[in-house]
Amino acid sequence: MKKLKVGVMGLGWNGMLFCEKYSSNPDCELVAVSEHKPERRAEAVKKFGVKGYSEYEILEDKDIDVISIHTPDHVHVEPFVKALEAGKHVFVEKPLANDLEGVKTMVSASLKHSGQVQLVGQILRFGKYFEAVKKWIDEGVLGEICYLESDYIHDLRYQQHLEQWKVDKEVPMLGGGCHSLDLLRWLAKDVCGDVTKVSAMSHHISYKEMKADTSIVTNYKFKSGAIAKVATLYGGPTPRPFGFNLSVFGTKGAIVRDRLCLDGMGEESMNIPEMLYDPTFDFAPEVAHFVDCIKTGNTQTRVTPQDAAQTVLAAIAGSEAALKQQTLDIPNIMDVIEA
Ligand SMILES: NC(=O)c1ccc[n+]([C@@H]2O[C@H](COP(=O)([O-])OP(=O)(O)OC[C@H]3O[C@@H](n4cnc5c(N)ncnc54)[C@H](O)[C@@H]3O)[C@@H](O)[C@H]2O)c1
Repeated sequence: MKKLKVGVMGLGWNGMLFCEKYSSNPDCELVAVSEHKPERRAEAVKKFGVKGYSEYEILEDKDIDVISIHTPDHVHVEPFVKALEAGKHVFVEKPLANDLEGVKTMVSASLKHSGQVQLVGQILRFGKYFEAVKKWIDEGVLGEICYLESDYIHDLRYQQHLEQWKVDKEVPMLGGGCHSLDLLRWLAKDVCGDVTKVSAMSHHISYKEMKADTSIVTNYKFKSGAIAKVATLYGGPTPRPFGFNLSVFGTKGAIVRDRLCLDGMGEESMNIPEMLYDPTFDFAPEVAHFVDCIKTGNTQTRVTPQDAAQTVLAAIAGSEAALKQQTLDIPNIMDVIEA
């Protein structure tokens, strides 16, 4: 099969890293980039030897099969819809969108163009350690799942000096919290169903320059009755390297970061082999999955827009639950679209 020709939109830290990952994937050829900022565009054009566009003109380039979207959180909707309308296969970074109208528009467009391959960048679903934990949960090694927790704790105060949108448009429960929330949804969904309710508390102490609350603890309930806690904190100082804590407790066993404890072990627990415990991530396996889905015509990617929309709806409900001090139901995206 001939190489897939790829165009990358948005050249911040994330988009530049994806340019490298597409360039080093043997089935891809990075052919173009699109970026508002002339200096970032020029740097990528020079570094990768590709065509440079400033915005949506990249979608008129008939040479391009695949568009990869790395624009700010609140600028995912328009590029995604336009790229699908232009007939491209589309990758879009997480969070799918950062408001309700955005996810509705994106899922409607996604369903309309269901023959094109679409993947949302919930990167944790591609980590080897997390893949292993999911297998143990699905195979019943831990018994019936009772409680899960994960957190996104990251000192992101440096971002206020980088991009204004990261101060006034980013919502921590969506920008960072969606990683941990999506991880728990994905790990448990085949045995517990999806999350149905949320209660929460939040405050604004840790990073006051941001507009939205920067510390939030959310409590979710799954369809099976299992419960989960997702904590998100954007500052102050935290130890490095930063990772995603994960604990999963079942009736027969538990995983707490790199420790596994099974029924009958008494006070003992064992270390999960070190090679498996790697909560950091690399974008190459995610790109490889996307490319493989395009090559094989598989539109049921590991993170479809419809699935990622459910993470966004659960995160929005979490933020609202904290502000209203109420327990809220989490709507289903298809009911939201049809309403
Ligand atoms: N999966 C992950 O772990 C991960 C990590 C970091 C960032 N991200 C996501 O990646 C996205 C980008 O993050 P970032 O930190 O690189 O942001 P950034 O602000 O540094 O970069 C975004 C770039 O997009 C450009 N842009 C905006 N609108 C555009 C348009 N219409 N056409 C072309 N270019 C446009 C901006 O000029 C900017 O250079 C965000 O959605 C973020 O949440 C994901």
